[in-house]
Amino acid sequence: SISARIGNETFEHPFVNAAGVFDETKQEMNQILNSEAGGVTTKSATLKPRTGNSKPRYANTELGSINSMGLPNQGLTYYLDYIEHNQIDKPIDLSISGTSIGDDIAALKAIQKSNFNGLCELNLSCPNVVGKPQIGYDFAAIAAAMKAVFSFYTKPLGVKLPPYFDLQQYDAVSKILNQYPLTYINTINSVGNGLVVDADTESAVIKPKGGFGGIGGTYVKPIALANVRAFRQRLNPDIKIIGTGGVSTGKDAFELILCGADIVEVGTALQKEGPEIFARLDSELTNLMIHKGYHQLSDFRGKLRDN
Ligand code: DHB
Repeated sequence: SISARIGNETFEHPFVNAAGVFDETKQEMNQILNSEAGGVTTKSATLKPRTGNSKPRYANTELGSINSMGLPNQGLTYYLDYIEHNQIDKPIDLSISGTSIGDDIAALKAIQKSNFNGLCELNLSCPNVVGKPQIGYDFAAIAAAMKAVFSFYTKPLGVKLPPYFDLQQYDAVSKILNQYPLTYINTINSVGNGLVVDADTESAVIKPKGGFGGIGGTYVKPIALANVRAFRQRLNPDIKIIGTGGVSTGKDAFELILCGADIVEVGTALQKEGPEIFARLDSELTNLMIHKGYHQLSDFRGKLRDN
């Protein structure tokens, strides 16, 4: 079996869409749920619907992608309504991303009051709202957000983190998060900000923010592996980890799980390949495990050896 648990949820398969990919509309989320994905993450919701940044705001490259979407989404009520009427028995992770901590708190208060008791993911790392810094790089702001949230929120909560690059950052963030009954972290969000240039036209490939945006895909896999590993070595064992970043094969997922991921999410590769990717990833991971003589994910999870 390749099943895994996070909070009270069972993922029969350990692959889920990364927030923001194939998940803005009910039709897209249904396609994910009808595929071999283990569950679905919703597009990060704000209190009110947003149209997002001007287009082109997403581009694929040979080794990954760049985006500056700007949180286009249908608004929190739309996603709560989708969850309430969902017929499929797979976990749904409700992602929210305020454009301020105050908005995050208002959204979580609405979710606390709702009937929804599933996983919720607070995005602390959107790099694309013009003029707004990423909370995830401001440790005092993370601490204040966690204190405010856990003063009233009692349902299962995860946080989506930006990539960190200095070992001291893992120490500082883990020290904050370990003080709270957090259900999971999701690491990494896109690596912001990068710039992709078209030499032919001598211009940036996306329009918003002078072409700067979040980088995903194969470029970022070693950064995702490092972040999963570093947090697994520092977080309380009861805080689970969703590993995200550069997964396009079953082997990529195997490596993230070896570093400590409980399940993995797929962004750029899902955008490029569509929801059929989940059947391929399930079978590639299953075949690799058979080849290695592993029966379940816990046989190798977190067991990366030093060289
Ligand atoms: C967007 C991009 C992100 O990487 C993210 O975490 C949240 C939102 C966006 O631009 O919509």
